[in-house]
Amino acid sequence: MPKGSKVSIVGAGGNVGSIVAYSIAMQGLAHEVILVDRDKDRAKGKALDMNQAAAALRTHSVVRAAETYEDIADSKVVVITAGFPRKPGMSRDDLLFANADIVSEVTENIVQHAPDSIIIVVTNPLDTMTYVALKRSGFPKNRVIGMAGILDGARMTHFIYEKLKFGAGQIRATVIGGHGDYMVPLPRYSTVAGIPITDLLTPQELQEVIDLTKNGGAQIVKLMGTSAYFAPGKATAIMVEAILKDSKKIYPCSTLLEGEYGVHGIPNGVPVTLGSEGVEDIIELQLTPKERQEFERSVQSVKELIDILEKQDYFGEKKSKES
Ligand code: NAI
Ligand code: 2OP
Repeated sequence: MPKGSKVSIVGAGGNVGSIVAYSIAMQGLAHEVILVDRDKDRAKGKALDMNQAAAALRTHSVVRAAETYEDIADSKVVVITAGFPRKPGMSRDDLLFANADIVSEVTENIVQHAPDSIIIVVTNPLDTMTYVALKRSGFPKNRVIGMAGILDGARMTHFIYEKLKFGAGQIRATVIGGHGDYMVPLPRYSTVAGIPITDLLTPQELQEVIDLTKNGGAQIVKLMGTSAYFAPGKATAIMVEAILKDSKKIYPCSTLLEGEYGVHGIPNGVPVTLGSEGVEDIIELQLTPKERQEFERSVQSVKELIDILEKQDYFGEKKSKES
């Protein structure tokens, strides 16, 4: 493997982080995969299990549990999956602050020990946590990226297949916007073997696909009592692969918008090219007035969460200006 293919995952003792690590190790994408978790024994156990799977498969990726954050040094990519899913009795705001504190702590350690890395944020609420990692790291925006659009697009792909019952493996679906109730599935940018799905499904069927996609995460939580991990883990590994291979493939990812789509200073999901520099280009889709309105609503929902943090002076800007 080329030098610089070390990948660290913080929160790797958990469901999503361990699937990210497993996918990378089984594909032999990285020469070294470092598992960081505050539950060190769990990280050690997962590392042993994955190394033994790698040995069975005869891939060269080595998986190691971190003793301290020093072990993430020289990582090309650091993935953050550390954080809570929403628990009973927890308001959205409680979750917001609890996970913002975790992402802040993790990001500060990344800055100290892997200052040249690219950060992929997975922790929810996704777009706001991407903002937290951006602010805390001070990294350029191309090096802090949120994972959601690949997952939401994969869910839409699945629901299109469920309607069609053909074309599996040939469906491409696009979802932009924030990772939440206001995400924006885009049938106009979704195809089966190049054929627009708007030619294959009725408006009512398309609306059902959109509703199922928006509810895709909640559907799994209801069935399993915890949130999804196979598709989220694989979607994250796909981003890692594009960066390590410098593939310049286009994927929807959460990235800080600074004028693109008429948005300033808010991360949101849009198609980007991913390569060794992280987000290398932002693609501006030509949206219809209705799509644009939905996208703006989605941006607004992310802004509302960021405003809650800013109003509490979460990033300490007012304090530092006053002092
Ligand atoms: P989990 O509870 O299985 O794993 C979280 C892990 O983080 C645990 O092993 C825990 O010990 C670790 N952790 C917590 N605080 C830490 C800290 N300060 N330092 C190091 N490790 C720490 O949860 P799961 O299911 O893996 O989900 C993780 C996060 O990802 C949640 O916030 C969830 O909502 C989010 N998620 C986001 C998705 C997306 O599309 N962006 C999709 C699925 C989950
Ligand atoms: C999901 O969409 C909960 O964000 C998580 O599965």
